[in-house]
Amino acid sequence: MEKNVTLVNASHMRIFMKLLTQAEKEAIQYTAYRTVAALAKNTSIPYCREIIQRIIEENQAELVEVNSSLSLSYLVELRYKTSEKIIKEGGYQQVIELGAGLTPHALNLKQTVSNYIEVDLEENSCLKRRIVQELEPSLAAHYVAGDVFDSHAWSTLNSLLKPGLPVAIFAEGLLIYSSQEQRRFLGEQIGAIIAEHDGLFFMEDSLRFHPELQWIPKIKQFTIALTNKSKNTNYSEPITQEDLTQEWQDMGFIVKRIEPEKKLETAYSAEDEQILDTLKHWLLFAR
Ligand SMILES: C[S@@+](CC[C@H](N)C(=O)[O-])C[C@H]1O[C@@H](n2cnc3c(N)ncnc32)[C@H](O)[C@@H]1O
Repeated sequence: MEKNVTLVNASHMRIFMKLLTQAEKEAIQYTAYRTVAALAKNTSIPYCREIIQRIIEENQAELVEVNSSLSLSYLVELRYKTSEKIIKEGGYQQVIELGAGLTPHALNLKQTVSNYIEVDLEENSCLKRRIVQELEPSLAAHYVAGDVFDSHAWSTLNSLLKPGLPVAIFAEGLLIYSSQEQRRFLGEQIGAIIAEHDGLFFMEDSLRFHPELQWIPKIKQFTIALTNKSKNTNYSEPITQEDLTQEWQDMGFIVKRIEPEKKLETAYSAEDEQILDTLKHWLLFAR
């Protein structure tokens, strides 16, 4: 088999998936810094400021600069708060967070979730573990360092799950960079976990899934900037709501859409409010 390629056994087909190169990994890992910086700057969400302070102390200040003219920080707050609402209201004690980056969900959900498992690429995962252990040494979260498109990471995730507890699996700012092939791979892994343990998968709605908004100059510029920064061209290929719904349904999921929480601390304009009104989160359940 070609190096850097993983072979996946899907139910009806075999998918050859190309894993990320080192340069791609570095570029996409750095996208996690500005999102937590936006939360630290605009919200009172606990631990964000402490995390950013530690990153600045490690001489990585340029990675946490938020460009306010292009910023869509209110969407970062929106997805953060909606995720915690779904987990708390559903009473999920077991969680898998994909592409967790540096956000402090595990810290802020410690009263609800007893088995918190997060996965990210190695550099971010190790940095997060170190920072969180300094901030809250008693927190017993699991940090899986790996590629979510690699079946080895899923063997580890499966081995950390406890029987008898439904699992909330979620991703913020990750699926927006995915190809259809990658989503199919994730759908296989997630579907198997939900079928065995019960639970759900959820992700935020994103501008990538709203091609109808790309005529707005700020949105177009944001798409270009994020594509360049992440070195990921999937982001600039929009998918419609209908196509994405069909994709998940074809993978065997029941798709529900929910209105997001709109009481936000981050300021947003009247134009942003119109964007906000079009978004609905994605909740997927096993059939
Ligand atoms: C935009 S950041 C979002 C981070 C965090 N969820 C948030 O909302 O701030 C995307 C995250 O996904 C991680 N990521 C991207 N591709 C990944 C992959 N193939 N496997 C694991 N993590 C990945 C990146 O390292 C980064 O931490």
